[in-house]
Amino acid sequence: MFTQTDLYELFRRHLQLCAVHEGERVVVLSQGAERADYADAYLAAARSLGAKTFHMRLPRPLPSSGNWSVGASELAANPAAVEALKNADLLIDCVFLLFSPEQFAIQDSGTRVLTVVEPVELLARQFPTTEHRERVEISAEILAKASVMRITNPHGTDVSYQLGRYPTVTEYGYTDEPGRWDHWPAAFVFTGAADDGVDGRIVLGPGDVLLPQNCYITSPVEYTIEKGFITDIRGGMDADLIRSYMASFDDPRGFGMSHVGWGLDERAHWHGLQQPSFPGGMGMELRSILGNVMFSTGPNNELGGPNDTACHLDIPMRGCSLFLDDEPIVVDGAVVVEDMLPARSRR
Ligand code: FE2
Repeated sequence: MFTQTDLYELFRRHLQLCAVHEGERVVVLSQGAERADYADAYLAAARSLGAKTFHMRLPRPLPSSGNWSVGASELAANPAAVEALKNADLLIDCVFLLFSPEQFAIQDSGTRVLTVVEPVELLARQFPTTEHRERVEISAEILAKASVMRITNPHGTDVSYQLGRYPTVTEYGYTDEPGRWDHWPAAFVFTGAADDGVDGRIVLGPGDVLLPQNCYITSPVEYTIEKGFITDIRGGMDADLIRSYMASFDDPRGFGMSHVGWGLDERAHWHGLQQPSFPGGMGMELRSILGNVMFSTGPNNELGGPNDTACHLDIPMRGCSLFLDDEPIVVDGAVVVEDMLPARSRR
């Protein structure tokens, strides 16, 4: 059980990692009654570090389809609020603005943006470290130089991503650089292929994870991908559920291929979606597992691409091999590049 004092201390350490200092402007954004305790703790923590701070609270969301629709934000109808947020040095986003044009505009103004929406148990368990940042940044350097990513697994996956069109993005759970976004907790790296640059087959096996469904696949699901779009999804009930979910958006762009990369946090576990480990939330632990390979479907506007569909799935997979220009990075679910491994387990 975390008290308000625990939250304050956790968030104060976190703001220090984000290099918050005397005179900075730190704004906390929340919506409705959600995460008011986070907002209070961040305000107190920011003030204790000498920052100027305030809390912007948006009205609670209107009823929706119940789907996880990324990119739609209450800020869209509030240009004055967006202008106020652009004046911040650091925006603590307790709403989840990711994929919204408003977040991109705020970042473009030089404001660093940090998403904090996960349960506090997870924030504490995967508290960011400079070592994880270093490993994520080393991975990003290697990924940014690659032209082709190929992924295979024992279930029959063999898919290629043509890289180089879009930037490489790091997530290590904090941000101290102007205009940079991050999400706490996280430790992974990703990029996206050219819009028509994914071809092949991805076959999910039991234990692979569907997010935002927050569930494990129990039977094989086979995706056929041609020129960057999914043309077929086959399998049993899991495939039916995925197809049904995607169809509910009534948007063919939901079948586009989104970001792809691998996880780098040895503290994150595959059983993290099960009780008693799972504290709720959106599954950031599963995205971060060391040696997972995560592909995603739907939008690529986060990378600067044209696809801004609201239909987005993240799918961390076990036991994959991932090659960059034929060089192995992950083999059978294990990262094989020494510099990407925890210092204590390097040979
Ligand atoms: Fe995603």
